[in-house]
Amino acid sequence: MNSLYVHGYDGLEATRLQDQARTLEELLHADTHYPAGSLVLEAGCGVGAQTVPLAGNSPDARITAIDLAATSLAQARAQVTASGLGNVEFRQADILDLPFGPGAFDHVFVCFVLEHLPDPSAALVALRGVLRSGGTITVIEGDHGSVLFHPEDEAARAAIRCQVALQRAAGGDALIGRRLYPLLVAAGFEAVAVSPRMVYADASRPALVDGFIRKTFTAMIAGTRAAAIEAGLTTPTAFDAGIAALHRTAGADGMFAYTFFKATARAG
Ligand SMILES: C[S@@+](CC[C@H](N)C(=O)[O-])C[C@H]1O[C@@H](n2cnc3c(N)ncnc32)[C@H](O)[C@@H]1O
Repeated sequence: MNSLYVHGYDGLEATRLQDQARTLEELLHADTHYPAGSLVLEAGCGVGAQTVPLAGNSPDARITAIDLAATSLAQARAQVTASGLGNVEFRQADILDLPFGPGAFDHVFVCFVLEHLPDPSAALVALRGVLRSGGTITVIEGDHGSVLFHPEDEAARAAIRCQVALQRAAGGDALIGRRLYPLLVAAGFEAVAVSPRMVYADASRPALVDGFIRKTFTAMIAGTRAAAIEAGLTTPTAFDAGIAALHRTAGADGMFAYTFFKATARAG
């Protein structure tokens, strides 16, 4: 995060950051609009990164955003208030023990949550239980196996595998994007449709090179350094070589692509 301050917050930098946020927002949210008066549950809202575009795209829907973490909910509430949105209610709740009756919602939205859960199937079944018949679920997840970059580098691949292994050891699945279709079908949803959404960055897209390659993906992998070394998955030298190689993909002749998976389905 400190590197953000290096660039400062002058007008150009603010525009660049907004452009970058808009690009991902467009990619992930542009086709999600809920009708006026519909009741929407955002499950695992975190600090509200998706709540703001979600609520902004459907200003006349009523969104209930839940999370386990009270501190995250407080930040999410502040984000929504700062955005001038008045259609979101926050509540501390567990997806696996929802405080809502059967059929309480018209739509459910879940983003970057299933990848952290030891039993994503149980979460999907619980969420289907609070959807009315014919209601929809939208799920967005990443998949670290979808990474494509140039120059290709085995140390970079190994550093990414450390993150995948650490997440698996914590009970999650950093490769869950490819499993959305079978998970939703097994949870009893109908009309399951998965749409891959690729973020592509090369030197012709400097906002994404900086914002996605450096500050999002590489920063996330770099953040696992201590845990990966501690777990015996890598050595400082090998890991640092992998991070340097990921940074090289942000060079003038580099490229980097990552695919998110957005699934929609209907409760029968
Ligand atoms: C990676 S964050 C994603 C937050 C947000 N959806 C986003 O895309 O920015 C995952 C969130 O899921 C929440 N979470 C994990 N397990 C949960 C559960 N069983 N019930 C409710 N929230 C949960 C965590 O507290 C965390 O805020």
